[in-house]
Amino acid sequence: MKGIVLAGGNGSRLYPMTATITKQLLPIYDKPMIYYPIATLMLAGIREILLITTPKDVDRYRDLLGDGARWGLEISYATQALPNGIAQAYLIGREFVNHRPSALVLGDNLFFGSGLSRLLTSAARLAHGAHIFACRVEDPERYGVVELDAQGQPVAIVEKPQAPRSNWAVTGLYFYDGRASDMARELRPSARGELEISDLNARYLAAGELAVTRLGRGFAWLDTGTPESLNAASQFVGTLETRQGVKIACLEEIALTQGFIDVDTFARMAATAPASDYGRYLRSLLSDLEIDAAGPSLRVAG
Ligand code: DAU
Repeated sequence: MKGIVLAGGNGSRLYPMTATITKQLLPIYDKPMIYYPIATLMLAGIREILLITTPKDVDRYRDLLGDGARWGLEISYATQALPNGIAQAYLIGREFVNHRPSALVLGDNLFFGSGLSRLLTSAARLAHGAHIFACRVEDPERYGVVELDAQGQPVAIVEKPQAPRSNWAVTGLYFYDGRASDMARELRPSARGELEISDLNARYLAAGELAVTRLGRGFAWLDTGTPESLNAASQFVGTLETRQGVKIACLEEIALTQGFIDVDTFARMAATAPASDYGRYLRSLLSDLEIDAAGPSLRVAG
């Protein structure tokens, strides 16, 4: 399965933080925001990634992530001239996706939870239809909202409804079969002038081909679009990391545990990482490595 990270937009709700720095490179506690959605794709087992951002910012992402080879990834880049809607990712990424199943993750969405990896790996087996995730929120009018029937099956999806029919917000992580680009082509801009991802999801729903998984109490889904939510995400990550001594979205660690890189490659990165908290963490993982016949595993990985 292929993966797209959409990291464009103008971050106007975070001005002046975003006056010279693109939003998805702002820090969430100890690492750039973009690490978190990339980690999400990696946990789903996805290695081929297209990062879509603005023409102005694309070189910044290239500087940070390169071709992704050090994490066993293949990262390529494309640009979106204007934030004309999330579903436009499937028009821009048409050649990359090439009629194959794919996952799309928004560059400002952070997922965390026990069993997340299992959930993502199973979603990444999708061959037909679409699969999205919903989370209960107190302010559904800010999101795409899915209405569910008594059996938990989706009956409607509406983008930012004034009178939400449920508290289930659609998260910024979407799995589609190979028809996503063709279906995105049929979309027309909404009243606010965007190609809405909720409209693409509604098309799959109308065809009876949309699966919705509700993320329960064991999961945290945070978006980082406002100063409050950015700060809350940083505090969340900082609290967990400090308390538990493990890192969330450490790409080197995930690459190793997913088998995308070997122990030697990991050891080289750990040895040469700067003397930051992150660098020390990589070195501490090396001493925790247990290598047995099944391959490397990390005592602390969760
Ligand atoms: O976070 C989940 C929500 O994301 C969903 O519930 C909504 O259905 C979905 O429309 C979206 O809502 P937002 O109001 O958060 O969308 P926003 O315009 O803030 O864009 C989300 C991210 O995607 C943001 O980091 C910028 C980026 N983006 C957005 C658009 C519209 C792009 O890169 N290009 C775009 O054209």
